[in-house]
Amino acid sequence: MANPILEARGLQKIFDPNSPRTLVAINNLNLSVEPNEFVCIVGPSGCGKSTLLRIFAGLDAPTGGEALIKGRPITGPGRERGMVFQEYSLMPWRSVEENIFLGPEFSGRSKRECKAIAQKYINLVKLEGFEKAFPHELSGGMRQRVAIARALANDPEVLLMDEPFGALDSYTRIILQRELLKIWQANRKTVLFITHSVDEAVFLSDRIVVMSARPSRIVLEEVLDIPHPRTQDNPAYGKTVKKILDILEEEQEP
Ligand SMILES: Nc1ncnc2c1ncn2[C@@H]1O[C@H](COP(=O)(O)OP(=O)(O)OP(=O)(O)O)[C@@H](O)[C@H]1O
Ligand SMILES: [Mg+2]
Repeated sequence: MANPILEARGLQKIFDPNSPRTLVAINNLNLSVEPNEFVCIVGPSGCGKSTLLRIFAGLDAPTGGEALIKGRPITGPGRERGMVFQEYSLMPWRSVEENIFLGPEFSGRSKRECKAIAQKYINLVKLEGFEKAFPHELSGGMRQRVAIARALANDPEVLLMDEPFGALDSYTRIILQRELLKIWQANRKTVLFITHSVDEAVFLSDRIVVMSARPSRIVLEEVLDIPHPRTQDNPAYGKTVKKILDILEEEQEP
């Protein structure tokens, strides 16, 4: 790969290294993500997927190896990376629109521009009418949609998404999967996306990375060249889902 946008080289993450509770979450993991690539990560629960994403987001530091963005070591969060967390992570004292225009506001856009940007993404995630609502007045799925809108409103080059659609009903999930593909295709963003749904991974990604049980490493990288829009009636779709599920079954902790 010529110039990966994200790269993990011999990455290691040990939690509580000097305690009896020490835990090797990630060991010697190598991964490259190309600009404009859509990569999905799947793997058993607790294998270190969120940890890996947090390291790429600059929210956590590795204990060994390197995490790089455009060839430079990641030392903290950056405007070019947007993160959608596994748990809802809104600011409870800010309304829906204020949460969404946080990034644009931070970069000095006027109140009018901020509101216009927020409205665009509120419409996208179907939250019209809730602009002034506060997070505690929303359902879990609605909060997650605000978090997705906030990440998109920042217009980052790289989207780091940790099971962003996990809490949504299946209909909203399908709508947002399609929207995310549209945004990715139109703006050529790089997406690193964690999911528990193999079906979702096959629907969305250019490449699926399968992580092993802890201490995790990569057990398979499957490149998908199925044309979009992908449908279940394409035999390659079902074949890929089965291949990944078979490997995941082997990787489940006993
Ligand atoms: N701050 C922390 N301190 C100690 N251990 C941690 C910490 N964060 C994560 N871990 C441990 O690291 C391992 C990997 O956690 P992580 O959240 O990355 O898993 P995951 O693959 O995202 O799982 P899931 O699919 O359930 O979200 C787990 O065993 C977890 O207990
Ligand atoms: Mg996780």
